[in-house]
Amino acid sequence: MMYKMEDFYMPNDMLVKLYNLKMDPELLDRLAKEGVSIHRALSPDRREILHQIENAFLENWGDSESRQRWLSECEVAFSHTPVTCYIASRGSEILGFACYNTTAKDYFGPTGVLKKERGKGIGKALLLSCLNSLREEGYAYAIIGAAAPTAVGFYQKNVGAEMIENSAPGVYRNML
Ligand SMILES: CC(C)(COP(=O)(O)OP(=O)(O)OC[C@H]1O[C@@H](n2cnc3c(N)ncnc32)[C@H](O)[C@@H]1OP(=O)(O)O)[C@@H](O)C(=O)NCCC(=O)NCCS
Repeated sequence: MMYKMEDFYMPNDMLVKLYNLKMDPELLDRLAKEGVSIHRALSPDRREILHQIENAFLENWGDSESRQRWLSECEVAFSHTPVTCYIASRGSEILGFACYNTTAKDYFGPTGVLKKERGKGIGKALLLSCLNSLREEGYAYAIIGAAAPTAVGFYQKNVGAEMIENSAPGVYRNML
């Protein structure tokens, strides 16, 4: 089926002040004690990670159109060295993921945590890891690309993100 850009609702982007970013080492320690590892994805795991994200997508994150787009952006993350994707894993199970520098340079996203694992700090740990990497690359600000309305509160609360008015469709305007 063919879609036109105007068939999609595209939310605004958000801005994060990286110079104000506060890391949370206690959160990473707690998650580690609970058996959850937050780490940069490794390229040898590319196919397995993409496979798990694809399989979990419809139940946890959205419809088949957004699945195509998110997976495409995750593939871009794996085309960088180092990989610009952090994952949360318990053993070999991917509990969540977050990418940056994929839609455009300095952009955060996509990100998602399995429904059964939400509310434990995993999304925040992934978000902070990605934003800290952008800060270490030298950026002073980061952009949350097309922040889902249901996740705006998450970005405001955890990293003080502010809405960028009239930023949609912005960088996504030529998306098919
Ligand atoms: C958004 C998402 C990644 C958050 O993951 P999560 O692991 O549940 O979030 P955390 O447990 O790390 O939350 C950290 C804090 O943010 C709060 N929070 C989480 N989601 C929130 C939301 N939607 N609105 C406001 N606050 C939120 C939590 O209550 C928690 O607060 P606390 O530290 O006081 O306990 C997850 O809900 C998700 O995968 N959503 C679907 C995909 C999605 O929308 N992705 C973003 C697209 S832009």
